[in-house]
Amino acid sequence: MKALILSGGKGTRLRPITHTGAKQLIPVGNKPILYYGVEAIRDAGITDVGIVVGETEAEIREALGDGSAFGIRTTYIRQDAPLGLAHAVKVSQDFLKQDPFVMYLGDNLILDGITPLVREFERDHPNSQILLAHVANPQEFGVAELDGSRVIRLTEKPKHPRSDLALVGVYMFDPRIFEAVNAIKPSFRNELEITDAIQWLIDHGMEVRCHVITGWWKDTGKLQDMLEANRMVLSRLKRSIRGALGPGTRTEGEVAIGEGTTVENSILRGPLILGERCTIRNSYIGPFTSVYDDVTIQNSEIEHSIVLERCVIQDIPVRIEASLIGKEVRIQRSQLKPTAYRFMVGDSSLVDVL
Ligand code: G1P
Repeated sequence: MKALILSGGKGTRLRPITHTGAKQLIPVGNKPILYYGVEAIRDAGITDVGIVVGETEAEIREALGDGSAFGIRTTYIRQDAPLGLAHAVKVSQDFLKQDPFVMYLGDNLILDGITPLVREFERDHPNSQILLAHVANPQEFGVAELDGSRVIRLTEKPKHPRSDLALVGVYMFDPRIFEAVNAIKPSFRNELEITDAIQWLIDHGMEVRCHVITGWWKDTGKLQDMLEANRMVLSRLKRSIRGALGPGTRTEGEVAIGEGTTVENSILRGPLILGERCTIRNSYIGPFTSVYDDVTIQNSEIEHSIVLERCVIQDIPVRIEASLIGKEVRIQRSQLKPTAYRFMVGDSSLVDVL
């Protein structure tokens, strides 16, 4: 069995972060989202992995390399335009050949892995196996309608969803999927939808099996989902202190501190993770916060947030929360006159002031 990890797309819902980086590489619990998918595939015993890439190819290649660091073998497949998930399957045909495969969307996070589901697919070989999850906002996903345990209809982003069962971004297929992806037409958003391709399999009498998963799953395409994913990953964190806890510092709960990081006169209330070589002074870092490497936080309070590398946050009088702060951002209090807000923020940024 092979795997296909989709790592293209523009990440429009995560701008401005995705103006300068691939959404699949945003760290959750200080680890790129993409790595969780790679590890789930590796843990299911699959080593031959195609990585579908787009404009961010160079970055994704740098992050995964030949795959040996993860115990897999990568083959990069270029998708020249984001023309849909079924299009990604089409351009991967030379790599997939006649092998059954798992397709995994690189921005999806399934905390408990996929091993039993892959085993079941290998044992029973239906033409396809899909995963479903109950969600509160089905209109934002592909939605399944069931008759008992049988899938009867799949609709991409329906305005009036007929159920709350969303298609999870992990799919298993045999080679019959190529007939489907070649038969379907582009959708309302001008993409070849995998949802339509699976519907084609159903309409042509093929076996599409579904599982409603009960474990934790997130599509991290939007800020709130990214923060939620970070919360979930950190809720499993175990205490590990490799940095230096200086005078006046108190830690509560599960706290992970990387090498070279120093904390002085601060309260760290876990679960939280601090990367390497950070400086934290006179601050409060609260639950569900991931701070990447080389960050400075002074005289400030932050919680339920993700802070990327080399940021500086200092002298902020109000607690920061529910924030995703990109690389090398400075958030500081100014003494300049006139007393005013001064911004230099990237395109499509969001700034909430008091
Ligand atoms: C894609 C699929 C959708 C599925 C979702 C899961 O949506 O088209 O059917 O439910 O992934 O993450 P997109 O991320 O393209 O909006």
